[in-house]
Amino acid sequence: MKKRVLTGLRPTGNLHFGHYFGAGVNYLKMQDEYDFYLEIADVQALTDNFNNPEKVYENVFELTCDLLSIGIDPSKVCFFIQSKIPEIAELTVFYSNLVTVSRLFRNPTVKSEVSQKKELFGNNGESITYGFLGYPVSQAADITAFSGEYVPVGDDQLPLLEQCREIVKKFNSIYGETLVLPQQVLSKNTRIKGLDGNEKMGKSLGNALFLTDSDEVISKKVMSAVTDPDKIHKDDKANPDKCMVYYYHKLFTPKDELDVVCRECKAGCRGCVSCKKELISNIIKFLEPIRERRKYYEDNPNEVRKILDEGTKKAQETAKETLKNVKKAMKIDY
Ligand code: TRP
Repeated sequence: MKKRVLTGLRPTGNLHFGHYFGAGVNYLKMQDEYDFYLEIADVQALTDNFNNPEKVYENVFELTCDLLSIGIDPSKVCFFIQSKIPEIAELTVFYSNLVTVSRLFRNPTVKSEVSQKKELFGNNGESITYGFLGYPVSQAADITAFSGEYVPVGDDQLPLLEQCREIVKKFNSIYGETLVLPQQVLSKNTRIKGLDGNEKMGKSLGNALFLTDSDEVISKKVMSAVTDPDKIHKDDKANPDKCMVYYYHKLFTPKDELDVVCRECKAGCRGCVSCKKELISNIIKFLEPIRERRKYYEDNPNEVRKILDEGTKKAQETAKETLKNVKKAMKIDY
């Protein structure tokens, strides 16, 4: 039997290349080998967007289309919407007895998110909500509701997985072996640098290249990419390892062409503008099949709805089964 994989994404915006290389490539590999559940985590998205329900609503469709466009195959992967699985909310309540408030405050992912969201949670996190503080508990419910053995996530999510493992261990030690202990699967490329040279590509960092960007937007962003600062003139010799354009060529440019880029850059016979233009055209080429698939789903929104409906139905069955076992273990199966 195939091992079970569970992962989730917050529907708060379109996917960018950081998501694609950091997570998407891993999903594409795993979808053939595992029984894969993919949660559109709308309830979790609301924990820091409770005042913006439109945004979450719209991005459920957007995110699903993005995932389908990169080639996630709905015949292999069970897409579902978190809020349609009330069992997750129930489990969250049960698990909340097994977590101390101070442990949640110490969670590094929660801490760093709170410090980034001052307008919502105050300068020192003094206005943090109960819901946001508790989202690691709800994430533990996401994972265990589907008996996820493997959880593919970026390294920023490791503290959440650690907290989930603690909850599982505690639950099993009090109520008897019931829940599956999950393990993380770290992607090889967890982090893609921004075109501005920042260690991370992120929407909030303003340096993201989205899968849905138009040719014009891609051109504009690549044209402003950071190159070797020591190269002033077109024919100066440069160090490609100090250049974000070369860094991106490594992601999008075929090997033989890449060797030429590197050689010419070092020899000083390659201008940055033409080098950027070449990269732009390779990114656009790379996006061709992704755009084609996206257009298909945009033109057939009912198909997207059907994928979500069918996946959600299957997910409901799985979660129901878990809840039955949990309630039995907790002696609340009257
Ligand atoms: N916290 C994850 C993120 O922000 C999303 C998520 C929700 C998730 N539920 C999950 C990830 C379960 C892994 C497993 O990206």
